[in-house]
Amino acid sequence: MIFQSLLAPCSILISLFASANGIPTTPTVNKRAELDAWIASQTSVSYFGILANLGSAGEKAYGASAGTLLASPSTHDPDYFFTWARDSGLVFKALVDEFIRTGNTELQIQINDYISAQAKLQTVSGPSGSLSDGAGLGEPKFNPNNTAYYGVWGRPQRDGPALRATVLIAYGRWLLENNYKSAAADIVWPIVRNDLEYTAQYWNQTGFDLWEETQGASFFTTAVQHRALVEGIKFAGSVGASCANCESQAPQIRCFLQHYWNGKHVVSNTNLTPDPGRTGKDANSILAAVHTFDPEAGCDDAGFQPCSPRMLANHKAVTDSFRAIYPINSGIAQGSAVAVGRYSEDVYFDGNPWYLTTLAAAEQLYSALYQFNKAGSLTITSTSLSFWQAISPSATEGTFPSSSSAFAALTSAMRTYADGYVAVVQKYTPESGSLAEQFNRNTVGGPLSASDLTWSYASFLTMAAARNGFVPASWGAKDATSLPSVCAATSATGTYSPATNTNWPDFPCTPAKLVRVTFNALAKTSVGQNVWVAGSIPELGSWDVGKGGVRLDASRYLEAMPLWFGSKTLEAGTAFEYKYVHWEADGRVIFEGGPNRKYTVPTSCRMGASVEGNWQ
Ligand code: NOJ
Ligand code: NOJ
Repeated sequence: MIFQSLLAPCSILISLFASANGIPTTPTVNKRAELDAWIASQTSVSYFGILANLGSAGEKAYGASAGTLLASPSTHDPDYFFTWARDSGLVFKALVDEFIRTGNTELQIQINDYISAQAKLQTVSGPSGSLSDGAGLGEPKFNPNNTAYYGVWGRPQRDGPALRATVLIAYGRWLLENNYKSAAADIVWPIVRNDLEYTAQYWNQTGFDLWEETQGASFFTTAVQHRALVEGIKFAGSVGASCANCESQAPQIRCFLQHYWNGKHVVSNTNLTPDPGRTGKDANSILAAVHTFDPEAGCDDAGFQPCSPRMLANHKAVTDSFRAIYPINSGIAQGSAVAVGRYSEDVYFDGNPWYLTTLAAAEQLYSALYQFNKAGSLTITSTSLSFWQAISPSATEGTFPSSSSAFAALTSAMRTYADGYVAVVQKYTPESGSLAEQFNRNTVGGPLSASDLTWSYASFLTMAAARNGFVPASWGAKDATSLPSVCAATSATGTYSPATNTNWPDFPCTPAKLVRVTFNALAKTSVGQNVWVAGSIPELGSWDVGKGGVRLDASRYLEAMPLWFGSKTLEAGTAFEYKYVHWEADGRVIFEGGPNRKYTVPTSCRMGASVEGNWQ
């Protein structure tokens, strides 16, 4: 099971920090052990949170096609019941890395479904255009059944293709290493190829940023585009192809990347029309550092690596920009973690901290720690000095080998500081572990905006992996250092063709013992009524709804689609009969008419299944 593999390392840590009788040895250790325990439980909540939003069997994803990931199940205020290229790419990268680390075959099935869905999505024409000249690939979001979304939107967004290429390359590499060369070459590469061609052709044109608000150039977009082309070159070679446009454009993108640095911090958005006049301090840049982290790259400033003096200075500039503006941050001293939002001028839902940006602030630091330990030293420059002095007041410029006490003190201060960001998220996460998009900036706290944001859960998983020292594979940053002396506004016109092969080989897989079965009942009800499932097995109350029926949820109920949904984890192969029932306020139980419904929990490697039916 997915979550067990993640629980293991955490429980090992807990036992390390606890004495023989289980009582933690010192107060600091105690705090860390508590955080470890919370992270372990929040890790499994996050997995289930992601899978619940994934079509077609996800508990909260009724109506989404197989492999199509919703940004959130929220259908109003805000309506996120769509699939976004960016969110899906980032979330699936987390799942692919987890699959590679654990070999969890249930995850692999979802990954294959996602890739098959992407082959189809690339061919869907919409308001951004079509595949013929690549323009359609800049479309940021689609309906959950993979048709075009025609509403007014900030489009195009040019990070999506690059992020998708990055996930597919990570999985493609696994295929190659495990002797599935034709799946890598014939299924994965044709999709990646379109995305690389798009990136090489359009990187130098303006587009909407990751927050879908400003049109111009965005640091996050440029950084992930550079990464995709660099790893694209190597991946192309490994499947017997090539990417000449990647080779010609990658150095220019790296050149362009430099213009975002103003000497003190990254200016996340440039070339804006209209220019909203912001400071440019934006979690955009922290997310870029996290998603272009390369464990082989060292602390390269020009590559904006997490441990680079530039990005540490930037971390301070960005996080400090939220200290004064959120009441929940007031009174927190310099050098202690705070809640982090998108950017200080944000007004979306009144501009609150976000879970995923606060978690990214932690993740950047854990990734930096990995690098310092790997390098066996840590260097403080005039650029990063103020970052270090905030968390360790006696810090000075210099290079400190890992054998020095300064190294020990600095890295320990950094880890405590990083844990602080996770503790902020813990503090504002409800008991259930549900991660929305935002949490209230005011002292009342509480989740806000989209509920169960898939990306929030993924950012939790990648933070937890980084904290445990699990790092993603290198993407070749170390060798991609070519930097033209003068940047040129180049472009390479691509060629595009539909990826048609989605015939996956039969991968060996572990049969799922337990399957989460989701019941989707379409039942017109009146106010005050509810719908439950009662069935013949004890898990469904043995026909007694009070003894184990499943209460269904009406949060997506519409006249046109009177949906009641809910799920139950059952043993594979279990055969049972069931019915939908109303359990009235006065205690009466009213069974639907007709014959009993019959169902056998499928025996396969899939951990989720769903059934659908009209009230009869
Ligand atoms: C404005 C928000 O700031 C942006 O991030 C969001 O995507 C759109 N509205 C649509 O909800
Ligand atoms: C709004 C965010 O600003 C954007 O980054 C995201 O893609 C969408 N919501 C969907 O989660």
